[in-house]
Formats: sequence, C-alpha cells, structure tokens
Amino acid sequence: MATTAVAGLAAAAQPLTAAPGVRVQSSVRPVVVSSSNGYRFKNGGTRTCVETAFEQMMRGTDVLDALIAGVNIVELDPLDTSVGYGGLPNADGVVQLDASVMHGPRKRAGAVGAIEGVRTPSLVAKAVMDSTDHHLIVGKDAQTFARGMGFTIEADLNTETSRKAWLEWKRRSDPLHYLDPNRREAALRDVMLSMVADGFINENHIYGTINCNGVNARGEVCGVTTTSGLAWKIPGRLGDSPILGAGLYVDGEVGAAGSTGRGEANLFSLCSMLVVEEMRRGRHPKDAGLDACRRIQRNTIEKRLLNDRGLPNFNVNFYVLNAKGEYAGVALYAPTAGSTFAVCDEKGPRLERVEPLLEGSTT
Ligand code: GLY
Repeated sequence: MATTAVAGLAAAAQPLTAAPGVRVQSSVRPVVVSSSNGYRFKNGGTRTCVETAFEQMMRGTDVLDALIAGVNIVELDPLDTSVGYGGLPNADGVVQLDASVMHGPRKRAGAVGAIEGVRTPSLVAKAVMDSTDHHLIVGKDAQTFARGMGFTIEADLNTETSRKAWLEWKRRSDPLHYLDPNRREAALRDVMLSMVADGFINENHIYGTINCNGVNARGEVCGVTTTSGLAWKIPGRLGDSPILGAGLYVDGEVGAAGSTGRGEANLFSLCSMLVVEEMRRGRHPKDAGLDACRRIQRNTIEKRLLNDRGLPNFNVNFYVLNAKGEYAGVALYAPTAGSTFAVCDEKGPRLERVEPLLEGSTT
C-alpha cells in the first residue's frame, strides 16, 4: 500500500547531509503539501504528486526538483483541466500556461507567464531560475526561450475535453458579447455556473492550478505553482501563479505559501508574501493563512464580486508550511467534505480538510 511504502521510505531514508552554506535545522518534520489535485491525478501511473515529491525528497533529491517532479504528473495528465496539457484554454481557444518556482536555500526564483506549447511550464520556470539573471519571462518570448533550452514545442495543448468545453463556452457566451460590462460580467458568471452544473467543467478548475510546497529534514524549503489560469481568460491575462509573492512565496528561513483560486484577488494583496511575513512574526501556518484570507475579504468591495450576504463570491485557497514542517490548508470557504488539500509526510499521502475563514459557500 502506498502509505506503507512512503512510511518505509521515511524510515529508510539516508541520513541527509547539508550542502555547503546550507543551515541545518534540528527537529524538522519533512512534509509536502499541495492543492487536492496533488493527491488525485496520476497521469496513468501509480503515484500522485505529493507522494512522488515526498519520496524523492526523502531520497535526498533537491527539494525543488522533487516538487517539480510531483507537479509534472499533474501538468502532463490530460484529465486535470486546470494545469498544463489539457488545461482549459483562453477566450481564443489557446492554452496559455503560467508557473513559478522558488528555492529557499539558494534564494533563487524563476517564472513564466502565458507560455504556449510546452506541457510542463514548471520546468521552463526552473530553467529561467537556473539559466538566466531574470525572474519572469512571458508570452511568445517565453516559448522562444523554452525552444532555445531544448523543450519540445507543440502546436496545441488542447485535449478533446478542453476543446469541447471551450466550444460550449463560445456557444453559450457569444450572444452576450455586446452587453454593457456589468451585465456581461453577470451573464458570463451565469454561463460558468451553468457549465459547472451541466458537467462541462469542474468548479475547482475555473481558476485551476496546483501549488506544491515542501520542506526536507534539513529544513530546506521550496515551492512551485503551475496553472492554465482562469478558463476563457482574455488572451495574455496573467493570474497570480507566475507572480512571486502572489501565487507563490518562499523564504528559506521561514516557510512557503502558495495559492489556488481567483488570482486577481490574490494579486491585489500579494498574499503568499503576506502569509510568509506573518509566519516570520511567529504565527502558525494556519493563522497566517487565515490572515491573508481576511485581507482578501477586506479588499473585496465591488458589488459584482459580492454574494447576497455581502461576502466574496469566489474562493481563494492557500497551502502553507513553515521551516519546522508545521503546515495548513486554508481558504475563504470550505463548503463541502471535499474541500481538502493534499499532504504527504512520514504517515503517507492523504487529504486533510481545509480550514475556512467564512461559513457557507461562495453563493
Ligand atoms: N490562481 C490561478 C489564476 O487565477 O490564474
């Protein structure tokens, strides 16, 4: 059984030696956390993202490389329509992907935005980190960079499922394009909800994304976030995922935080940075994450973004761990038993319940 295998690995793990210049932490509990898709998708194989990342980390693989190996499973899996290959496309039917990586011990980072034609944008973000003096490369030039780095460029990352969903969105939303902006916003939201109700898209895949963070026995913290972004977005729209401090933030001495959900809400307050700064002040990952949710709630005042209760009509989730291995998954809302996040530690891979700031759901 997977749990036993991973627990065995933890027990059998080789003693880890610190790389030169890396501070060794005592009493760290190694752990990997991610959004729940990190526990669900296996791309036809036998292991999930969190299981793979934890196993590799415990074998001594660099933490960031281990996390990226984990999210690659989800990026490559056509069944996850929120990340990588088969991610829901933009309004023109083109799959544009965003990703960021941060390496705590090395204090390095890299990201790509709106890249087309590469199934694993997390690896291109890592190439930006490793091979350039930059932190973010976007659009056509991100693809040119990837081609130059030897990545395979494909003409189209749609699958039959993502294309069918986009065509259905066009069919339902085209007659609405000439409404005034407020009515159009409301109408598009109704289209989205009706497509969820009719089974064309998964509610959690509207903003999609996987974030995965880990800390090894040496207290080395890294993180990665990768996404196809908001379904049917205006071409070129970047969400929070490729923006350091928003979709991902890592401070090697403190911890890591990353997000899924409505990127615009998170971008406005750079919440992953906020979470890490709260942990620096001694807050537990759960309390730091809930503080960020509170900030988002306070900054959401536009009527079109509020439900009948005057609360945000969208969700944002944070996956948080500190350098000791304490962790949490938090969100504005956790309406169902399925409101979970993925964890893997010496007890094995599992889903745990997300801690919500607000009662009820987005509606
Ligand atoms: N959180 C993913 C996005 O908004 O693009």
